[in-house]
Parts: sequence; C-alpha cells; structure tokens
Amino acid sequence: MNDFLKIVRERRSANKFIENITIPREDFNDIFRELSLAPSAFNLQHARYYVVEDKELMGKVYDASFKQYKIKTASATIIVTGDKNAYLSADKIYEGSMMLGMLGKTEYEIMISTINSLYEGWGEEFKHDEAIRNASLSAMLFMLLAKNKGWDTCPMIYFENEKVGKLLNIPENEVPVLMITMGKMDKSSDKIRGYRKPAAEFVKFY
Ligand SMILES: Cc1cc2nc3c(=O)[nH]c(=O)nc-3n(C[C@H](O)[C@H](O)[C@H](O)COP(=O)(O)O)c2cc1C
Repeated sequence: MNDFLKIVRERRSANKFIENITIPREDFNDIFRELSLAPSAFNLQHARYYVVEDKELMGKVYDASFKQYKIKTASATIIVTGDKNAYLSADKIYEGSMMLGMLGKTEYEIMISTINSLYEGWGEEFKHDEAIRNASLSAMLFMLLAKNKGWDTCPMIYFENEKVGKLLNIPENEVPVLMITMGKMDKSSDKIRGYRKPAAEFVKFY
C-alpha cells in the first residue's frame, strides 16, 4: 500500500482526543503551505481558516456547538469558511500571472471580466454555493494533510453559525462551512468504521 492510500484508509473521524497536546506551529505551517495547492474555481482560493487553540475561547466554541465533548478534548478547533467575495480579488491573483508573462494583458482583462460577470450575474445563490464547494474541497485536503503529519481530525457541522461567527469575528461575506476538531485521537473510544456502500451503489458509468 502506498503512503497516500495509507493516509486515506487511516483517516477516521475522531470521537475523542487525548487532552493537553499542543500542535506545533511548524506542523500547521507545513499543512497550510501544502493546502494552498488545493484546487478552486478560477483559482480564486475561497477558503479561510480560523484556528482556535486558546482554551478559554475553545470553551466558548464548545458552548456554541451544542457542547460536543470532543471540542473540549481537541488540541485545536478550526472553522473553515468560504468567501462569497473571493471573486473581487481576482485581479490580485491574476496580476502575478500577467507579470510573469503567463497571461497577456488582453487575456487578463477577459479573465477578470468573465469572473465578475459570472459571480455577479449568477448572483447570491451561486456565490454561496461556490463558497461551500470550494471550502469543502479545501477542508478535505486539510484533513488528509493533517493525517499525513500524524494528526487526527473530525469534520463537524453541528454548531451555531451565528454564535461561532461572532466569537471569531468572521466577516459577513464568509460562509461558515465546516468545523474541524484536531488532535491525537484517543483510541480507547474508537468505533468500527461505519458501513460503506459498494461502488456499484453510488457510481454510474455512461
Ligand atoms: C459534512 C460533515 C459533517 C459532520 N458533522 C459531524 C458532527 O457535527 N459531529 C461529529 O461527531 N461528526 C461529524 N461528522 C463525521 C461523520 O460522522 C463521519 O465522517 C462519518 O461517520 C464517517 O466516519 P469516518 O470519517 O470515521 O470514516 C461529519 C462529517 C461530515 C463530512
């Protein structure tokens, strides 16, 4: 089995973490550096990460997440959001490519106007979907990169968006997409992997 398959197979949603373990900042730095390689529509990089390590703040996040015990035991609780206004920074992202000669001025202008007319033309629902779609892809990669560094995670949606948003000063233009608890899994609370459908039940070839 190669390393990638090992990571995919060994990633589990942690039920409980071993308490009082600090994730070295270097591990976060390595994870986020590689995470920047995640795909995103038009390379707009919609995902944002709010990493909570402070115990007092974690307690408040726990209260705003229906007191899910694993938050109390996690080394970090991360809120992943998607920026509905990511398209407004397209110029900054594409300017670099233009300066490097990868994109001509006309191509650059066409790209910016295509992005603007798509996001503005298709409106709020599209911006919202894009925020969720792109941040979700990024969050999955985050969990695999964390596992690659020896850290366990659990993706979570059971939290009060508004309360968590206020606690972390998340701007209005960002959609809270997922909470990820992270730490060292307490294996004593391991469960057997849940039933998985065989591929024939969720794949159709045409
Ligand atoms: C979008 C999403 C939301 C989830 N929300 C929660 C949650 O709020 N609390 C929780 O304990 N687990 C949550 N989970 C974890 C799932 O229960 C878990 O992924 C699933 O049972 C499969 O188990 P595995 O990840 O160990 O393979 C969530 C997973 C996903 C993908």
